Amino acid sequence: MISPARANIAYLYTMTLMKGFEFKVNSQATRVVIERGVLAGVGQLAKGEAGLADVGRVALISDDRVAPLYSAAVVKSFEQAGFEVELIVFPAGEASKTLATAEMLFQTLADKHFDRSGLIVALGGGVVSDLAGFVAATYKRGVRFVIIPTTLESDVDACLGGKTAVNLPAGKNLVGAFHQPALICVDPNCLTTLDARDIRAGLAESVKHALIASPEFLTWHEQHIDELLRADPGLMETLIERNLKIKADIVSRDPFERGDDRMLLNLGHTLGHAIESQCGYAMRHGECVSLGLLGACRLSHTLGLLDIQIVERVETLLRHLQLPTTLPEALDADKIAASILNDKKVVAGKLSFVLLRDVGDPVISQDVTPDDYLQAYRSLIG
Ligand SMILES: NC(=O)c1ccc[n+]([C@@H]2O[C@H](COP(=O)([O-])OP(=O)(O)OC[C@H]3O[C@@H](n4cnc5c(N)ncnc54)[C@H](O)[C@@H]3O)[C@@H](O)[C@H]2O)c1
Ligand SMILES: [Zn+2]
Repeated sequence: MISPARANIAYLYTMTLMKGFEFKVNSQATRVVIERGVLAGVGQLAKGEAGLADVGRVALISDDRVAPLYSAAVVKSFEQAGFEVELIVFPAGEASKTLATAEMLFQTLADKHFDRSGLIVALGGGVVSDLAGFVAATYKRGVRFVIIPTTLESDVDACLGGKTAVNLPAGKNLVGAFHQPALICVDPNCLTTLDARDIRAGLAESVKHALIASPEFLTWHEQHIDELLRADPGLMETLIERNLKIKADIVSRDPFERGDDRMLLNLGHTLGHAIESQCGYAMRHGECVSLGLLGACRLSHTLGLLDIQIVERVETLLRHLQLPTTLPEALDADKIAASILNDKKVVAGKLSFVLLRDVGDPVISQDVTPDDYLQAYRSLIG
């Protein structure tokens, strides 16, 4: 039998060869590993994490589209690393992100006498990690948590930051908690089975991060259009790492969205969410974010903050990434306005809107009037 010390050295050696980084929220560390094929080694990685050393059992939570594709490899990896694994599956899709599904998961864990020494592992897109994360945050007042994202939306955004939630009939993500995963294990090979439309939708979030934080990263997108659309696995490793580092940097400065920092991540999302709910979720989230980013850039220009050349550059990039830049048909503008005012970002009647002064130079404004954002919205009607 291999001694714990040697196992630890082997683990440290493996870690030095892997792409990724560690970041801290308050004093809690999250390790992020991004590597093609890492799915088959996730059990060993979890075992090597100091914060997970005493884990006994694993509850692997996934949806019924992802589980047939990837759960066998994950179960095998955890079992080989000495964990006992229970797989729990729920129907794929946003419609499952409810208290009812959470209750089913709580009940299943309780029936199996899952205790606080256990580990919840989310395998899937943002729906799985938001829901499994919410269960991990609240079951027995909180158990440890690992995320294995499988969509580009989740690889570049949803997997990191500790926001967990379920939806209510009154709106998305209205019940939730902050709960940081101990480990995020991203295997870009999972993207090979994802629809091309979902790849493009994930790229919109990547453009958002570039606009918030890095002119150089925006140029990088412009230089790699074809590889991005093909989801070239090597390039995806780089793309994911860049995105998660940008987000980790912002999240560690403002983990609970109390200051302005984390709000910057909402660039394009006020208009985007309004469009998403008004189209009855017929478009992908990332597609609505694409429209929202363009609307926010146009509004920034109208308000005298942003050069028109940058607005045009963003529009061209989104078009080259085959993301929508015009709404296919007009949605009811009054409903859009009402939807914006219902936004979670409205505090004491004031809406905080993220604008851009330049690429990498976002600013939060509370002076945007309903007329301003309606004008930005109308500019998107093709
Ligand atoms: N917590 C956060 O910070 C955060 C950030 C962004 C989005 N989100 C949430 O994420 C959710 C959207 O995430 P999503 O776009 O990943 O949706 P999703 O989890 O519903 O996945 C989309 C579809 O793709 C399927 N799928 C997943 N991986 C696959 C793969 N590798 N191959 C084939 N099919 C696969 C899923 O089964 C599902 O049908 C929303 O609920 C949103 O609120 C959360
Ligand atoms: Zn988003």
